[in-house]
Amino acid sequence: MSERASNIARMAAQGLPIPATVRPGRWRAAFPYHWDADDLVSRREMLRFAVLASGSLFAGTALLAVLGWIDNRRRGSPKPIVRATDVPEGAAHYFNYPEPDDQAVLLHLPGDRFVAFSQKCTHLSCAVYFQPEQRRLYCPCHEGVFDMETGEAVAGPPQRRLPQIALRRDGDMLVALEEMP
Ligand code: FES
Repeated sequence: MSERASNIARMAAQGLPIPATVRPGRWRAAFPYHWDADDLVSRREMLRFAVLASGSLFAGTALLAVLGWIDNRRRGSPKPIVRATDVPEGAAHYFNYPEPDDQAVLLHLPGDRFVAFSQKCTHLSCAVYFQPEQRRLYCPCHEGVFDMETGEAVAGPPQRRLPQIALRRDGDMLVALEEMP
C-alpha cells in the first residue's frame, strides 16, 4: 500500500476529516490495496489453487483407478456350488458365478481334484466348453483352446488364461470363494 493510501486509511479509521482534494472514493478507503500488489497476490493465489486442484484431481483419479483395478481383479463372495459326489471324475459342472449372468465351469480332475474357471473366452467372450475326450476347454467361436488344469491359453487366438475361481471344500460341498484374474 502506498504512503498516501495508508495515510488516508489511518485518517478514515480515526474519524478525521479528509481534505476533499485527497479524499478518495469510499471503496479505496475500504480496500486500501495497491493495484500491483493486488495483482501479484491474486496470481500467486490462483497458481496455488490451480496446483492444489490439479494435484487433488490427479490423486483422486489415481485412487479410483487403483480401486477399480483391485475390484476388477477379484470378484465374488463365498457361494456353495455343488456336492463333490455329484460330479464324477472326468466330468464338468456348469454354474453361474460370481454374478447370476456369469457362466462358469467346474471340472473334476483325476486325483479327486477340482478346478473352476470362468466360461468367458479371453478372446472375444464366447462361452468355452469342456471336451473330456480331448481333455481341454474349447471355444467354438474361433477354435480357442485352454488347458483344463490351469486355464492357460494353449491354442487359437486367445492370449490370456481363463479367470480361475478359487474353491473351498466344506465336507462334501464345493464352495466358490472368488474369481481371480
Ligand atoms: S471368442 Fe473364443 S476363440 Fe474367439
